[in-house]
Amino acid sequence: MTRMVERPEWKALRHHYEQIRHVHLRDLFREDPRRGERLVVDDAGVYFDYSKHRVTDETVALLLRLCDVSGLRRGIEAMFAGEHLNVTEDRPVLHVALRTPQGTKIVVDGVDVVEEVHTCLARMEAFSERIRGREWQGATGLAIRNVVNIGIGGSDLGPEMAHAALAWYGDRGITCRFVSNVDGMDFYEKTRDLDPTETLFIVCSKSFGTLETLTNARTARTWVLDAVGGGEDAVAKHFVAVSANPDRVAEFGIDTANMFPMWDWVGGRYSYDSAIGLSLMVFVGADAFREMLAGFHAVDEHFRTAPFERNIPVLMGLIGIWYNDFFGAETHAVLPYSQYLWKLTAYLQQLDMESNGKHVTRDGQPVGLQTGPIVWGQAGTNGQHAYYQLIHQGTKLIPSDFIGFADALEAVGDHQDLLMSNFFAQPEALAFGKTADEVRADGVPAGQVSARTFEGNRPTSSLLFPRLTPDTLGRLVALYEHKVFTQGWIWGIDSFDQWGVELGKTLANDIIPELEADTDPGLGHDSSTNALIRRYRALRGR
Ligand code: F6P
Repeated sequence: MTRMVERPEWKALRHHYEQIRHVHLRDLFREDPRRGERLVVDDAGVYFDYSKHRVTDETVALLLRLCDVSGLRRGIEAMFAGEHLNVTEDRPVLHVALRTPQGTKIVVDGVDVVEEVHTCLARMEAFSERIRGREWQGATGLAIRNVVNIGIGGSDLGPEMAHAALAWYGDRGITCRFVSNVDGMDFYEKTRDLDPTETLFIVCSKSFGTLETLTNARTARTWVLDAVGGGEDAVAKHFVAVSANPDRVAEFGIDTANMFPMWDWVGGRYSYDSAIGLSLMVFVGADAFREMLAGFHAVDEHFRTAPFERNIPVLMGLIGIWYNDFFGAETHAVLPYSQYLWKLTAYLQQLDMESNGKHVTRDGQPVGLQTGPIVWGQAGTNGQHAYYQLIHQGTKLIPSDFIGFADALEAVGDHQDLLMSNFFAQPEALAFGKTADEVRADGVPAGQVSARTFEGNRPTSSLLFPRLTPDTLGRLVALYEHKVFTQGWIWGIDSFDQWGVELGKTLANDIIPELEADTDPGLGHDSSTNALIRRYRALRGR
């Protein structure tokens, strides 16, 4: 297969880059006064403004050719049809089935997965209603009021992000916590003020073999049983599991009747809209959860059917490629102007970096181009007082997404307009900067003019939504999922495996007995690792 980097369409973009790399956004806006209305897509409940990017109509046309030459349309259809796009694991990539309305069929190996999804949703709903109605009792007869999700990576970041994002819609009488780190202090801090008799654990692990999760789940079992006494009966009242591996769930001691399914065709980082989001459904209720699924689905349909030049995730993906592969930008900032979205970027880090942090193509050749960016950021306006200085005046090019909402969920003074004034001001300042002449005209002393000059030409996308709702959250996350798909497909990589994290897991497992041994374990690592382990053992008195 010809690699993307060798294609004439890629080379044409390189040539084009040389021609326009110094073109300034000030000039692009001057030449086309309606640019800010033209380079916009208003569809699928999203207002997406990409006018403040260093692109011309020709750039966009050349980028769109990457879709054709990579067969993106075919790739999207293959994903929705359940083809095995995760080639190294030989699995379908079907997170879109998680939000496909009942009645639509997607058949995988003879099974209609949409039907399975809806059966699971109905079970989740019944379970959630029992907790929300305070009907589910712990072993001592007290109603469950605390729900602790134990999981890591995709089995943690999504539910926790969405729990934070939708806090306004949640039942505040239910305390939800998320334990992920194998650092015991995570478990300690998240449970120290909870009453075990009123606490239920949802152990989420697709594989049910993840060291962190199983360790935390064992600790939780001891914590509960020490308080309530009893054995399997008590476990059944305080533990449910979400997993694709019933055997391991049973081996752990959780009755599989208390297990909600996961499927091989959903990647962990694409899974919080499955039963992995059970804690979220308990918190916000089934109606809100289903509303979120409808939001996801609306963007799935947009991605599947909208022409690429009006397709928001495709444009997000192409613009990302433009900076990543041609301007040499290494990072991508995501800056939501909503405190409720304070966990969004951490969630997107896994989604994007675990998906597209790859160095070979789907057929195993070196990819020969830059793949996924480093994703970072936090909620505005906080970031403005931390690292925006570097975005404005540093030496690095950092394309950024600004995400904003028109309405606040509660009217608190004039906060919303103050917040959103920043959402509008920052991209404007980043794009247009402030020339030395403008700085001088402000009466700035000559010695400070260069330090106070803003070059501008810093690219941003603006994504504006009416209001942060479950539906909007679904739309927002689906946009990023499909952006990641678009990029991975064009680069020709497998966005759905994660072999890179496996090596670290294996090595850590080998080291555990060396840390715990009573006598000198006879270390065989490199001299640095050996010395560090010896020092650790000495510090621990071993
Ligand atoms: O970090 C690797 C990884 O496999 C992620 O892809 C996944 O989300 C996480 O571990 C947790 O996996 P599991 O749900 O199987 O415990």
